[in-house]
Amino acid sequence: MKVIDTDNSSTPNVPNVLDQVLAQRQRVADRLAPISHVVAVMSGKGGVGKSALTANLAAALGLAGRSVGVLDADIHGASAAAMLGARGQQVVMAPAGATPAVGVAGVRVMSMDLFLDGDDTPVAWQHPGGLAADAYVWRGTMEANALREFLADTDWGSLDYLLIDMPPGADRFDTLMRLVPGLSGAVVVTIPSQVSHLVVRRAITAARQAGGRLLGLVENMAGLVTPSNSSAETAVQELSPNGGRAFAAEMGIPYWGQVPFEPRLAWSTDAGRPFILEDNQSPAGRAILALAQQLEEALANEISV
Ligand SMILES: Nc1ncnc2c1ncn2[C@@H]1O[C@H](COP(=O)(O)OP(=O)(O)OP(=O)(O)O)[C@@H](O)[C@H]1O
Ligand SMILES: [Mg+2]
Repeated sequence: MKVIDTDNSSTPNVPNVLDQVLAQRQRVADRLAPISHVVAVMSGKGGVGKSALTANLAAALGLAGRSVGVLDADIHGASAAAMLGARGQQVVMAPAGATPAVGVAGVRVMSMDLFLDGDDTPVAWQHPGGLAADAYVWRGTMEANALREFLADTDWGSLDYLLIDMPPGADRFDTLMRLVPGLSGAVVVTIPSQVSHLVVRRAITAARQAGGRLLGLVENMAGLVTPSNSSAETAVQELSPNGGRAFAAEMGIPYWGQVPFEPRLAWSTDAGRPFILEDNQSPAGRAILALAQQLEEALANEISV
């Protein structure tokens, strides 16, 4: 177990704490200054493919010659390093900050996974004591603190894109907005089920309330490619015809299309080779390329965060 000691009983006095917070905020601003676009990949719903799409988008942008970083904001369910083939690398703590790992297509990665001792090691916070009822709030604070540390201390250098792989949960975007005031926006991921739409709808509302810009909505696992259709000229059998498009229209978010259910995408991405490196001409591959293009177009007129 990786226990992170949060005991601050030795904290000298309150003004010092405030100074530290302000200094850290400044460090976050300085770190993000040379990054053109910071984009969250969010859903609210778990297991819809946020991490897999983030890894594939990052790899697609990297292959197109962009400098890309991925920050894994999922502290407890970290998977970005694995999906980008960066597991097992050491994060070097240099005077300029923590040097991110480098995954496929030159994508730089920072993730709690890179700091854990082994595959079975969970992240655990050492609770300072007090009411059990406070533990939930306190744990959220600890996660936000860990994310703030990543933002403040990772030496990304200059990047065209920093993609942030968000954990599930409708309230997560609000936390991110507080930490990254210049966030370019978010890509919203859903799957074609009513239950997913119900959860994603709440997350969209929460993101809007936090002042976030919702760049586009992607419907993942949206259809099946039948074996006879798996060549270049395929038609995907949609699970909910036009459902994603209608949902995006209802939510007032640009519809960025569908990524079909593709077992090879899961196999290769989970093994550290984003599918876009394996087959960019399949329906899923082409859909990911189209997503990358739409992201670039949506942000083309934005100067810098
Ligand atoms: N289009 C797809 N076709 C087939 N498998 C997919 C597709 N998209 C994602 N997957 C697979 O589904 C699983 C869940 O995806 P992923 O971990 O990216 O979801 P997530 O939204 O990040 O989950 P969490 O909320 O736990 O962070 C992974 O094994 C992933 O490779
Ligand atoms: Mg994930």
